[in-house]
Amino acid sequence: MDNDNLIEMRGITKTFPGIVALDDVSIDLKKGEILSLVGENGAGKTTLMKILSGDYSHGSYGGEIIMEGVPLRISSPGYAEKAGIAMIYQQIHVELDLSVAENIFLGILPQRMGFVNWKKNRLAAREVLDRLKVNTDPDDIMRNLNTSMQQLVCIARALVRNPKVLILDEPSSALTEGETRNLLDILNKLRESGISCIYISHKLKEVFETSDRVVVMRDARYVRTYYKGNIDSKMVVEDMIGHRIDSMYPPMEGREISQEVLRIENFKVQHPGSAAKNIIEDVSFTLHKGEVLGLAGLVGSGRSELLRAIFGAMPHRSGKIFIEGKEHYIPNTRTAIRKGIGFLTEDRKKDGFVDAMNIEENMTLSILKDIARAFFIDKMVEDKKVRHYFDMLKIKAPSVKTQIINLSGGNQQKVVLAKSLLTNMKILFLDEPTVGIDVGAKAEIYKIIKKLAESGLSIVMVSSEYPELLAMCDRFVIIANGYVAGELSKSDASETAILHMASGL
Ligand SMILES: Nc1ncnc2c1ncn2[C@@H]1O[C@H](COP(=O)(O)OP(=O)(O)O)[C@@H](O)[C@H]1O
Ligand SMILES: [Mg+2]
Repeated sequence: MDNDNLIEMRGITKTFPGIVALDDVSIDLKKGEILSLVGENGAGKTTLMKILSGDYSHGSYGGEIIMEGVPLRISSPGYAEKAGIAMIYQQIHVELDLSVAENIFLGILPQRMGFVNWKKNRLAAREVLDRLKVNTDPDDIMRNLNTSMQQLVCIARALVRNPKVLILDEPSSALTEGETRNLLDILNKLRESGISCIYISHKLKEVFETSDRVVVMRDARYVRTYYKGNIDSKMVVEDMIGHRIDSMYPPMEGREISQEVLRIENFKVQHPGSAAKNIIEDVSFTLHKGEVLGLAGLVGSGRSELLRAIFGAMPHRSGKIFIEGKEHYIPNTRTAIRKGIGFLTEDRKKDGFVDAMNIEENMTLSILKDIARAFFIDKMVEDKKVRHYFDMLKIKAPSVKTQIINLSGGNQQKVVLAKSLLTNMKILFLDEPTVGIDVGAKAEIYKIIKKLAESGLSIVMVSSEYPELLAMCDRFVIIANGYVAGELSKSDASETAILHMASGL
């Protein structure tokens, strides 16, 4: 046995009904190292960590866990915590109405003679917050903190329990670049003080910069370990997806783009944060059949709000919508869907699918709701279609009857896309369609977007990833300060050109 090992997980196997989530996976964690766990959605990363953190108790999986040379039977999250294993989940768990200090010491409040010693409590909180360079008061109410701060408070909560290992499951998806960097600085400091860290992230660039080792998982299996100084990003990605990526983006040239399908005239949209202001002052644009139009702008420029307002998901102050030359009034999303507009947002859980349904039901949701009432649906034909798209989109699940909640993010996004393929949609709005999705699933989603455009669907796309936007769109409308700052054709567009316009120069 290697004496540097803090934790060894040996031959871990875990199954869910119909799915092998982990197949004989072995990893080890050294004392004072940052180990990154990477892999496509559904590779088994979270499940492996939930075993370590006691969410799945000893006995519900095969294999063994050894910590500092001693076999551990982790029976609960409380047991793991006592053993020095702390996990920060992707979904932040906090008590929104309690103070920062209360959140940090929840369950282990420092007491003196049976009473909670608030002074000591606050001081201790201040200390750990300072250590994390969190600029918030221990008395602040959690609700008033932004996501990044809340995440750091979760880390503070873990740290006051003196963990030997800190597990972070995709902590960076909700954080800005600056916040992510701050978090990584913190992990580096923790490493110096001897705390080991297991870090799960899709942000490969940062992973490569920070990790001592990178472990790749694919399809429930361990694939390979890369060591600091020898991390070849191309190889890691290939290991993740299991086959060579010829190209991330499909060629979009040679498609037919024809007549105008959608025209937006003089849209004005109220600022979501302040009734006195407008986020969109005056924006007009057109969209053609089979076209992919990129709506570009800085974060906060109102791209999403503009699309939401057109879609009837939020009100607009003024402006006109013409579909195929005729003016339409769209007061709500039901009307928008009836008129052939679809909207796929980054918030899949909120807007995209219904938790309690399976894949098939989700795919046919829009059809059932909006068409079935009026028309007779041939169930056999529909079954065939659902199965066709299930296969075509390579949705990773045992069957179309699998509950959607059990799928990975990328596969959920595919189901939502299949929904648009199954309806007679004419116009599709895509708002950050690949956020939080791994490389392999991204490439597949780009192929689907291409297929949709080829079939004559007209698409408006918002994305903060410039390479994605530049590769997928035929034309760009750039929004700055509430107005159209300019328009670029594919051949004239570049990241610099768009940024120049977007920053209002
Ligand atoms: N509670 C569950 N019930 C059924 N299947 C699950 C459950 N949790 C995860 N899975 C499945 O196990 C596999 C691994 O999932 P997960 O560990 O979440 O992967 P990752 O974190 O790498 O994206 C996936 O196929 C996923 O759909
Ligand atoms: Mg996960």
